[in-house]
Amino acid sequence: MTSHSPPPTDDPPAVPPGDAESSPPTDGALRDQFGRSVGSLRISITDRCDLRCVYCMPETGTKWLPKMSMLRVEEYLRLVRIAVELGVRKIRITGGEPLLHPRLHELIRSMRAIPGIRDLAMTTNGVALAENAASLKAAGLDRVNVSLDSIERSGFTAITRRDRLPAVFRGLDAAARVGLRPVKINTVVIRNYNEAAVLDLAKLARTRPYQVRFIEYMPLDAQRRWELNKVVSASEIRARISAHWPLERIDGEDDRAPAQLYRFRDGAGTFGIIASVTEPFCTSCDRIRISADGKIRSCLFALEETDLRHLLRSGAADAEIEKLLRRAVWHKWEGHAIQTRRFVQPEGGMSYFGG
Ligand code: 5AD
Ligand code: SF4
Repeated sequence: MTSHSPPPTDDPPAVPPGDAESSPPTDGALRDQFGRSVGSLRISITDRCDLRCVYCMPETGTKWLPKMSMLRVEEYLRLVRIAVELGVRKIRITGGEPLLHPRLHELIRSMRAIPGIRDLAMTTNGVALAENAASLKAAGLDRVNVSLDSIERSGFTAITRRDRLPAVFRGLDAAARVGLRPVKINTVVIRNYNEAAVLDLAKLARTRPYQVRFIEYMPLDAQRRWELNKVVSASEIRARISAHWPLERIDGEDDRAPAQLYRFRDGAGTFGIIASVTEPFCTSCDRIRISADGKIRSCLFALEETDLRHLLRSGAADAEIEKLLRRAVWHKWEGHAIQTRRFVQPEGGMSYFGG
């Protein structure tokens, strides 16, 4: 089998770093030097997780954030209020595993009460979702994205290093039943690991009320085992699926959403592909992230973070927090350069700064 991923090149990335000296605007929506505004904020509320996915965490020896350095519910809420005033409309709660946070429901209920949030979503591994789906919906959560990389028990256990597939299936079921919809499934495809998941999950997307999104494996694993030849590219995923079921590209509702959407020509459902590595979508990126210890990360692959926690805990006024947010966003770079040799993998996996 051949990889469809292009080889790495030494070409300089077509991404000027931006003008480090220029100053952000002092009013209007949050925006960067390349004309992108920020509509979506992803908040990691814990770095803990009850799975150990190979593309994210090491099997043992994770160093957890000290409790004291993690933001409190009130601090998250303050940040969200400020961000919404600056134009953010979509909030995603992520982790680690957000269902491990003891005050998750309270956080969601309070966020829901903030006027201006159009979409309140959560990314979860689904393990504890069955027991929580109804109460999360009641607290005001709109929808969930559930990670699922194999529908075979042995494959699931190999990737997550935990034998929890039945619990995740129950969680998916419960989410759809209580109306946390659309229920989306995130499937990371890794060569020689779970390529079978492509057809298995495409079939699931045809038969169950889930929107499956295949995600190219990104260099964000804590163990730094990522290699370009382990990436199963979007073009390969498309080819594998269309060999079985003819496909048609469709437009999504949101042209800043990263997934390319496809429909099965026979009308049985849709699925998406997120081609962060081989077909990057940096030019339409509208998101920023906040880690569980209060650092702003303007790009998943950013090498620098901006610390908000010290401001939050030093009695700063909203205007100062706004200023720091504006600065971090303004200096967001134009895009990553994963396929070049100059790419530098950031420290820590997705469990730290959130998917
Ligand atoms: N590459 C691609 N996706 C990843 N995720 C975590 N680590 C990686 C990686 N290295 C995704 C998982 C999970 C979400 C939080 O982030 O799909 O659902
Ligand atoms: Fe946990 Fe999600 Fe990382 Fe898997 S990808 S180890 S479920 S935080």
